[in-house]
This record gives sequence, structure tokens and C-alpha cells, in this order.
Amino acid sequence: MQFVLLILHLIRFLTAPPSVPSIEKDGKMSLNGSIVGPFYEKAVLNLECETFGGKPSPEVSWFKGEEELDSESHVRVEKNGASTVTSTVKMTLDRDDLGAKIECHVDNEAIDDALVSWVEVDLHVGPSSLEVDGPDEPVIAGDFVTLTCTIQGAKPAANASWFNRSDALTVLPQTEIELEPDGTFTTVSVVEVPVSRHDHQGTYFCKGSNSVLQSKGEAPLLKSLDIQVLCEYLIQIIYLNSVCLSQPSFNPELLQPTTLQPGTQHGARLNRHNYSTVYYHLVKLCTTIFEIIS
Ligand SMILES: *[C@@H]1O[C@H](CO)[C@@H](O)[C@H](O)[C@H]1NC(C)=O
Ligand SMILES: *[C@@H]1O[C@H](CO)[C@@H](O)[C@H](O)[C@H]1NC(C)=O
Ligand SMILES: *[C@@H]1O[C@H](CO)[C@@H](O)[C@H](O)[C@H]1NC(C)=O
Ligand SMILES: *[C@@H]1O[C@H](CO)[C@@H](O)[C@H](O)[C@H]1NC(C)=O
Repeated sequence: MQFVLLILHLIRFLTAPPSVPSIEKDGKMSLNGSIVGPFYEKAVLNLECETFGGKPSPEVSWFKGEEELDSESHVRVEKNGASTVTSTVKMTLDRDDLGAKIECHVDNEAIDDALVSWVEVDLHVGPSSLEVDGPDEPVIAGDFVTLTCTIQGAKPAANASWFNRSDALTVLPQTEIELEPDGTFTTVSVVEVPVSRHDHQGTYFCKGSNSVLQSKGEAPLLKSLDIQVLCEYLIQIIYLNSVCLSQPSFNPELLQPTTLQPGTQHGARLNRHNYSTVYYHLVKLCTTIFEIIS
């Protein structure tokens, strides 16, 4: 019995619990659970974790989730046999570290469970992807087309800007910004533009950028979309006593007759007894070939 007490006494004498770890960044203490940053991708984050009073010398380790990080420890043993341990971790931040919680664990024989302090990394990133969507099918001149630009993975949220071949579009886009589980934002920008025959084979561009790309002088993400525009042509074919006077230079099977109207055509003096005019609607890609016919 006495022997057991002696051992317990010895253990108490030989061991001491370490202090709770305190995390510092650039010599400034970060409160437990606080946010450090913001940083940009590729920034180097240096953190220091300190604990004192531990006997024997506590083990200090760093974790990002389950993953243990490489670190360097410096141990200073005081006169009373307790150790002050300083451990530094150095990490180059990338997209993987979005919202990462970096923990410092301190453990020795005097305690049952490791003492833990942590900080959360506030990482700012450029957009990771940009997609432009528009009509899959050709659209008819005079219609409005809806173009959608989706920019993902940016923090802070990216802005979309729209251009046609030459100019910035004057139409104001409708923009929605959504927060994703990883802390980045998705920007959805929608523009409705009227298309004319001149937009046939026209190209629309969406550019996406945020403050990260801007401050690093990096180019915005950019994608384009080509649109095909159909034109409506009204074509008349004139028959006189069932004889066709005007010969269309296209395949009439493509045509749908729309109206049958009397009129004075081609300089011939015609009336309702000796002529008929058939109007056809032709819807075709707006190319110059068809403009001649119309
Ligand atoms: C830090 O906060 C966590 C909970 O978020 C807690 O488990 C831990 O004990 C705290 N550490 C210190 C040193 O206060
Ligand atoms: C581009 O857009 C501008 C402004 O919306 C418009 O004035 C111009 O005609 C367009 N140019 C082309 C080639 O579509
Ligand atoms: C995004 O748009 C807002 C509002 O127009 C503007 O204040 C901000 O500077 C823009 N940011 C970028 C990165 O273009
Ligand atoms: C059509 O009939 C009118 C009289 O009904 C006549 O004056 C005109 O010459 C005729 N046109 C042709 C092309 O035959």
C-alpha cells in the first residue's frame, strides 16, 4: 500500500500537465477557433504553437482534419524540469485549404486526452470554372435570346461581364450569387438580348473575374458562344391562268404557303380572274444568299 502511494507521489512529482496550446501568427496570438486571413492562393501560412509547464516534455503536433502536418518543434527545459515547446508549421495554401481548420495538439503522460487549439483559414480564391449557355437551336431574328454565364469556385464572388464581338453589352444582366458548402460562391449571370439578322454567326462572350484575379493581375476566365439566327423571308410566286410567272430559285418543297391575295405584280395588269399570287414564308439562316431572294 505504501509502495503504491510512493509510486503515485513519484508520478505526480515527475509529471506535470502542459498548458493549453496557444497559436500565434506573426507573433500575434490567435484566439481558439478564430479565423486567420484572408490569404490568397499560394500564400505561405506560418503558425506557431506554444505550450509550457509540461513534464515530461509534451509532444506537439499539427493537424488539418485527419492529416498530420509537417512541423518543427523547439524544446526548452526549465530549471524545474518542465518544458516549453514551440512548434511551427509552414504551409503553402491552395484551394484544398478552403475553410481548413488547423489544429495544434499537445499531449504528455500527465493528461488523458491531448489539448487542442485551432484556427480556421480564410482563403480567397479565383474562380475555378466558367460556362456559357445559350440556345442550342437557331433563333429567329427579332426574338430575345437568354444567355447564362455560370462562374464557380470563387471567393469572394466573381463578377460576370458580357460582350458581343466588339462591345460590352449595354443590357443589364440579372445576377444571382450562391454560397457553396466549401465557402466559395457561384455567380449566375443572365442576359436577354434581342437578336437581329446581323447577329447571325455572332459571338457573345462572358468574362468572369474576382478581386483575387484582379490583384494578381491574372486574366479573367472567358468563354464564348456562337449563335445562329434564322430570318423570315416573304416570297411571292405569281401564277397567271395557272402559269407560273416567277420562278423561285429555291426548293419550293421547303415552303409553306401562307396567303393568297390579289394585287398588281411584276408590272402586269392583272385582276382576280386571270391571276393569283401565292405568298410563301421561308425561314432560313440569315445569310446574304437568301437576302437576295426576299
Ligand atoms: C478550443 O475549442 C475547441 C472547440 O471548438 C475545444 O474543444 C478546445 O478545448 C478549445 N481549446 C482551448 C485551448 O480552449
Ligand atoms: C454589340 O453590342 C452593342 C451594344 O449592345 C451594339 O450596339 C452593337 O451593335 C453590337 N455589335 C455586334 C457586332 O453585335
Ligand atoms: C463587381 O461588381 C461590383 C458592382 O458592380 C463592383 O463594385 C466590384 O468592384 C466588381 N468586382 C470585380 C472583381 O469586378
Ligand atoms: C387580265 O384580265 C384583264 C380584264 O379582265 C385584262 O385587261 C388584262 O389584260 C388581263 N391580263 C393578262 C396578263 O392577261
